Amino acid sequence: MQLSSIVPWGRSLAEYKAMFDLSITDLERRILGCGDGPASFNAELTGQGGEVVSVDPIYQFTRQEIHSRIQRVYPGVVAELARNAEQYHWSSFRDPGHVGSVRMSAMNRFLSDYDSGLKDGRYIEASLPELPMFDNEFELAVVSHLLFLYSEQIDAIQHLNSLKELCRVAGEVRVFPLVDLKGKLSSHLRPVMEELYAQGYHVERVKVPYRFQKGADEMLRVVSKKRPSRKSHGSESLEPESKADA
Ligand SMILES: C[S@@+](CC[C@H](N)C(=O)[O-])C[C@H]1O[C@@H](n2cnc3c(N)ncnc32)[C@H](O)[C@@H]1O
Repeated sequence: MQLSSIVPWGRSLAEYKAMFDLSITDLERRILGCGDGPASFNAELTGQGGEVVSVDPIYQFTRQEIHSRIQRVYPGVVAELARNAEQYHWSSFRDPGHVGSVRMSAMNRFLSDYDSGLKDGRYIEASLPELPMFDNEFELAVVSHLLFLYSEQIDAIQHLNSLKELCRVAGEVRVFPLVDLKGKLSSHLRPVMEELYAQGYHVERVKVPYRFQKGADEMLRVVSKKRPSRKSHGSESLEPESKADA
């Protein structure tokens, strides 16, 4: 992976809580954050006594390298948000500059934690669809702004293999959002849900309280049926007779 090919952009613990509807009990579980990049989820949750490991290919780079890349791409990302402002709800954030400053605080929080997190094994360089983790090492895995969002770059088979790999290492997997970069429900969602169901997983779409990109208000929850499954409130599960919206 070339650092010049990535656009580091990181969200906060508060955003992760809303995107994945994380309860206090969820936050006490051993969590894997997959594709966390420069999000402050790990730094903040670790600071509060949580147990979290993040994996991302960008963790092959040094703090200085990631910091320079953030500085370089930041103005372009904020300008892009301003150009596409109608694709977002402006309730949690006032304007693109406000999003930029909140995200920059989160990324700075990540950067200040990065070297000690690398030493402690909390930031691990790895890429889906293969994770260097033991079976059931985690109770919960969360994936923010990677699967389904990048549906043009990641095909349905890669989605399926990635979700099965996440289920191998974690008892429960949550993915947000389910829309692609254009704000349309990912075309991979339905075939991937159907295949996971056919292979014995419990899969459901669950409404979450997070609101920013228009159309992005649901997460996917996947649990291996061999494990006890906790049915969520306000969810739509995939059973043979009841087809999920596409
Ligand atoms: C848009 S960023 C989201 C960062 C963070 N999850 C958040 O929501 O703030 C997507 C992240 O996915 C990472 N990524 C790209 N390909 C990946 C893969 N195959 N496996 C794991 N992470 C990957 C990128 O390096 C990047 O940090």
